[in-house]
Amino acid sequence: MDMHGKVAIVTGAGQGIGKAIALHFAQQGIRVTIAEIDEAAGSETVEELGHPGQILYIPTDVAVEDQVQDMVARTLQLWGRVDFLINNAGIAQAHGPTVADLSLERWNRVLAVNLTGLFLCTKHTSPHLKAQHGAIVNIASTRALMSEGNTEAYAASKGGVVAISHALAVSLGPNVRVNCISPGWIDVSGWKKRALRREARHSPEDHAQHPAGRIGRPEDVAALALFLISPEASFITGANFIVDGGMTRKMHYI
Ligand SMILES: NC(=O)c1ccc[n+]([C@@H]2O[C@H](COP(=O)([O-])OP(=O)(O)OC[C@H]3O[C@@H](n4cnc5c(N)ncnc54)[C@H](O)[C@@H]3O)[C@@H](O)[C@H]2O)c1
Repeated sequence: MDMHGKVAIVTGAGQGIGKAIALHFAQQGIRVTIAEIDEAAGSETVEELGHPGQILYIPTDVAVEDQVQDMVARTLQLWGRVDFLINNAGIAQAHGPTVADLSLERWNRVLAVNLTGLFLCTKHTSPHLKAQHGAIVNIASTRALMSEGNTEAYAASKGGVVAISHALAVSLGPNVRVNCISPGWIDVSGWKKRALRREARHSPEDHAQHPAGRIGRPEDVAALALFLISPEASFITGANFIVDGGMTRKMHYI
């Protein structure tokens, strides 16, 4: 696939899944803007991924509209086009607090980053994506479909990501394809910024509970994102792809 000269914006690409997506894209010759709130993570990513001149870090809080506008404007200023948008930035609610103790402030922040951020980035890139017949990939979660207790804000935000993905596919087609990836358990420990990077410590049971026999890796998601933006995926839009090693297909009655 020849992607040379194309331009992607990947949000939250300073660490984890987004960082792997940025690397996969850069390896195909795509120029990548890393729209990331954590300055250490953003700068380290540019340095570590290599591909000098091909990866740009722009400090961005995706939940703040003027920062998103500025990030898109700077990308256009430098590269003159935007072909792909990967809405990956997200924050977890972790487990708890209970819904009775969940502050409105925390609820609003999770929704603001995970869902409103996607809306803002899409809003301000969509005219440019249309001009290039581009593509969007949104990163949801299998938690859009199933839950552990006390994860209401995160589950609601990711349910919203799945829903807005099919809405956008209908609204922006045929010029822009929009798909969604719902990852399951992805071990990002080796893709964190240096201060947080650590060896993964998972038990054999952690891996074995997955029908695929292992926990996921950021590369598993990045490979699918790359396929979904490629011309080979030109008949695929409005879909939600589950990348979870089979966990949502497994019954638990114990
Ligand atoms: N890792 C998993 O198991 C898993 C599973 C399902 C879904 N996801 C989703 O995948 C995406 C990436 O997750 P990850 O595990 O790589 O997380 P991560 O925390 O390793 O990376 C997320 C990055 O987003 C950045 N970020 C947070 N808020 C931001 C904001 N307001 N603006 C810009 N950047 C911001 C963070 O600084 C961080 O670098 C998230 O949307 C997450 O919900 C992850």
